[in-house]
Amino acid sequence: MKKVAVIVGSLRRDSINKKFAKVLAHLAKDRLHFDIVDLSNIPLYNDDLWETVPESILELKRRISQADGVLFVSPEYNRSFTPVLKNAIDWGTRPYGKNVFSNKPGAVVGTSPGAIGSAVGQSQLRTVLASIHVVTMGQPEVYLSWKEDLFDADLNIVNESTRSFLETWVDHFARWIDRMGGELTSS
Ligand code: FNR
Repeated sequence: MKKVAVIVGSLRRDSINKKFAKVLAHLAKDRLHFDIVDLSNIPLYNDDLWETVPESILELKRRISQADGVLFVSPEYNRSFTPVLKNAIDWGTRPYGKNVFSNKPGAVVGTSPGAIGSAVGQSQLRTVLASIHVVTMGQPEVYLSWKEDLFDADLNIVNESTRSFLETWVDHFARWIDRMGGELTSS
C-alpha cells in the first residue's frame, strides 16, 4: 500500500486539524497508509543546527523521503498557514540540494471553525509548495468548516454528503499518487 507522510500545522493537543488528519487516515485506510508526522520536537529553523543535527530533524526528513506522497493539513492563522508548518517545510528543503519534498505528489486540506475553512491559508501554502517542487493536486479542494457533530468518537464521518465528498477526495488523491509518482520516477 502506498504511504503518505501527513504534516499537520498545529501542535495543539485538541487540534481540529490533527483530528481531521486522523479522520482522513481512517477513511483512506484501505487505499493509503497515512503516517502522521509529529512536529512537536522540531526546533525553529537555524542553519547552525546542521553542525549537530537534532534527531527530530533527521526523523522528519526520513519519514518524508520514505513516503510516496505528502499531505499537508493546516489551520489558517491570520489569513496564512501556520509557522509550525512553514518551519517543517523549511527544514525539509535543507541542506541545499537535499530537498525531501522534491517531486513528491502532494495535497493540501484544512479546517477551521469559520465559514471559509482555511481557504486563504491553503492558497498561500500552494504557492510555497510550487516553489519546493511538490506536485500538488489541484482538485478537489477541501475547505472544511469544522462542526463537532460531523464525526463520531471512532472517527467515522456521520454526515452523508461530507463522507461522500471526502471519499471522492481520497479516491482522487490515491490516483494522483499513482499517476504522478509513476511519471516522476520514470522521467
Ligand atoms: C486563528 N484562527 C483563524 N481561523 C480562520 O479561519 N482564519 C484565520 O485567519 C484565523 N486566524 C487565527 C490566528 C491565530 C493566531 C489563531 C491561534 C487562530 C482560528 C483557528 O481556525 C482555530 O483556532 C482552529 O481551531 C486552529 O486549528 P487547530 O489548532 O484546532 O487545528
